[in-house]
Amino acid sequence: MSATNRQIRLAARPVGEVESDDWEHCSGTVDDPGPGRFAGRTRVISLDPAMRGWLDDRPSYLPPVGIGEVMRAGSVIEVTTSNHPGFRPGDHVVGTFGVQEYVVSDGKGAMKIDTSLAPPSTYLGALGMPGMTAYFGLLDVGALKDGETVVVSGAAGAVGTIAGQIAKAKGCRVVGIAGGPQKCAMLTDELGFDAAIDYRTEDVRKALRRHAPEGIDVYFDNVGGDILDAALTRLAMHARVVICGAISQYNNDTPVKGPSNYLSLLVRRARMEGFVVFDYAQRYAQAAQDISAWIGAGRIKVKEHVVRGTVDDFPETLQMLFRGENVGKLVLELA
Ligand SMILES: NC(=O)c1ccc[n+]([C@@H]2O[C@H](COP(=O)([O-])OP(=O)(O)OC[C@H]3O[C@@H](n4cnc5c(N)ncnc54)[C@H](OP(=O)(O)O)[C@@H]3O)[C@@H](O)[C@H]2O)c1
Repeated sequence: MSATNRQIRLAARPVGEVESDDWEHCSGTVDDPGPGRFAGRTRVISLDPAMRGWLDDRPSYLPPVGIGEVMRAGSVIEVTTSNHPGFRPGDHVVGTFGVQEYVVSDGKGAMKIDTSLAPPSTYLGALGMPGMTAYFGLLDVGALKDGETVVVSGAAGAVGTIAGQIAKAKGCRVVGIAGGPQKCAMLTDELGFDAAIDYRTEDVRKALRRHAPEGIDVYFDNVGGDILDAALTRLAMHARVVICGAISQYNNDTPVKGPSNYLSLLVRRARMEGFVVFDYAQRYAQAAQDISAWIGAGRIKVKEHVVRGTVDDFPETLQMLFRGENVGKLVLELA
């Protein structure tokens, strides 16, 4: 097979916000897959806040994307040609295939998905990495107990919508923090959160006092910064603060703002713990089964924000995460 393969490569390391000049839009070719490999066409690309961190040349849980390399991204592809015994033409496969139209793979880290059970996008969201993140962050790191008070920041996003709904399924009181009245209304009216706080217009600390009068048992933090600091003032005894992410800090060109209220961990005998979802890979199947069951039972509603376009729309679509323009899991579906 020989085709033109549109790709997005990293052209320069961004300082602060990612600019259009930081990307290179190019056309490569796709060759026959060769022995033991398969080729496929990209259907849906995942957009993730972590992508911003992968562009920085600093030690992290994954090496940085190199200058000139195809941008790293999770995606679902449809197999077109295969010399691999595990994959046939027509199969849909999820993996870290990068921001490009065509992919050749040896199958390592790739997983066949069943699109009769859920659409491809859901394998990048509720049944994919964000769903796994919500599940293990809340249940393992957060050691959630039935009936506790849970606060989730970034609550209207991919991880937040699932984390909040898992906590509801466990009988907890759940308060979401999100940007804007529409997102807050969606959390309470559609997803069943007990309360929602609009951090853009409300005083988060005061609102938490109102909505979590007995204190917060589990604070699931997706945003860091001032919201984390406000939540730390409202911890219940033996609270768990789950550091899932800190999107408010990812575009900083100054040092990350740490929490000044951390001594409440001492007073409340609480703990704060970070985690990386990849460490739970051995248990993804169990988590996916539980999340599927909750979806089937109507306990979890899947929220996806699908942008339809081409690979060239990737840079602009990524910015939506940092402007709060997505509701639920953001994906780019290729025409
Ligand atoms: N630890 C792990 O293994 C792991 C795995 C996956 C994801 N994560 C982390 O989980 C978090 C959520 O990821 P996601 O994929 O679910 O993204 P997402 O929540 O779907 O999208 C990002 C959201 O962040 C909010 N946001 C943007 N800038 C903000 C700011 N300055 N202050 C407060 N909120 C802001 C926006 O919502 P609003 O409109 O509400 O502002 C935006 O919609 C990220 O921090 C990500 O890095 C961690």
